[in-house]
Amino acid sequence: MAAEAEELVRQLASEGHLPPGAVEQRLQEIRDALESMGTYRQSTEELLAGARIAWRNNPQCVGKFYWKALETRDCRDVGAGSADEAALFEALVEHLRLAWNGGKVRLLLSVFAPSGPDRPGPRVWNGQLIRYAGYRQHDGTVVGDPETADLTEAVQRLGWRGKGTEYDALPLVIQRPGREPRWFDLPASAVPEVRITHPDYPWFERLGLRWHAFPTISNQILELGGLHYTLAPFSAWYTCTEIGARNLSDTNRYDKLPVVAQGMGLDTGRDRTLWRDRALLELTAAVLHSYDRAGVSIIDHHFATKQFVRHEEREHKSGRTCPADWSAIVPTTSGSTTPVWQRRYEPTRVRPNFSPHPTPWPDGGAGS
Ligand code: ARG
Repeated sequence: MAAEAEELVRQLASEGHLPPGAVEQRLQEIRDALESMGTYRQSTEELLAGARIAWRNNPQCVGKFYWKALETRDCRDVGAGSADEAALFEALVEHLRLAWNGGKVRLLLSVFAPSGPDRPGPRVWNGQLIRYAGYRQHDGTVVGDPETADLTEAVQRLGWRGKGTEYDALPLVIQRPGREPRWFDLPASAVPEVRITHPDYPWFERLGLRWHAFPTISNQILELGGLHYTLAPFSAWYTCTEIGARNLSDTNRYDKLPVVAQGMGLDTGRDRTLWRDRALLELTAAVLHSYDRAGVSIIDHHFATKQFVRHEEREHKSGRTCPADWSAIVPTTSGSTTPVWQRRYEPTRVRPNFSPHPTPWPDGGAGS
């Protein structure tokens, strides 16, 4: 841990977050803390600046242009000691409220207590704070989001019962070290959603499609200076393709292209009519239109990738490389029409960073 702490402190100093003269003293403090407690407490500045760099280092994210705008909420003392899961739940609901910000979605990370020398930090079982349940039926089909079918079953084993609709928000399952997990239903006010309508097709609304307003990734560990923050939910706005060209259209997710294509009057009997491609485009256009109309922040994939290229250029000017995974950066539709298509990326892993949690519930399952 000492080596990683030192690496972070030196990096922060080199980026101007710590006066060069203060480095040795800070390193001594950290060494002393490690010796007496087996861990150390990061300063607010280390946490904030470090979290931004962790985002900048993450190879999966096309939105890193905005890394300097990330806001960090310091929740390290929430639910500390003997306080129960309810305190964590309240802080998570508050996170959603702050990130939502009336539709002008904020880039927000809340950081809870890190793992200690002899026990892990708190975590949630949910991959995102807001996600829809997926109920497996006897015939093997799923009502709702198939991505969460394992989590849904795990939560049902804990006694949760959902309504059984296609869009039931899952409860948050909070697990503190050495204790049984507890689930909490989110209040409806914490789950803003957008109903999907189409700018030109009035029938589209009758499909009843919708999605939650913004994503909040909650199954990643923030690894910062040797500390592991096991609960660090990260909210941002959506890119329209994530919803239109993945969540609502993937055949192993909501699989809505056939109904969209039927509405459009396309012949779905033959691949060569390109009904999937046409439906995919109109669905994605509908998502963009609906979020705009509802006043909810969302960006399109052309703008997002242009910003990404600007980000890369800025990084190179600062003498840094830009770790990126091509398959995550290129949008899932119209990839070749965006400026990232022609470029080559290295998904190099550098610290600090975010890393995925292993599946938490017993009996395993594929998870998401
Ligand atoms: N693709 C994920 C979803 O659809 C969200 C991943 C993060 N996306 C983001 N725009 N920050 O829910």
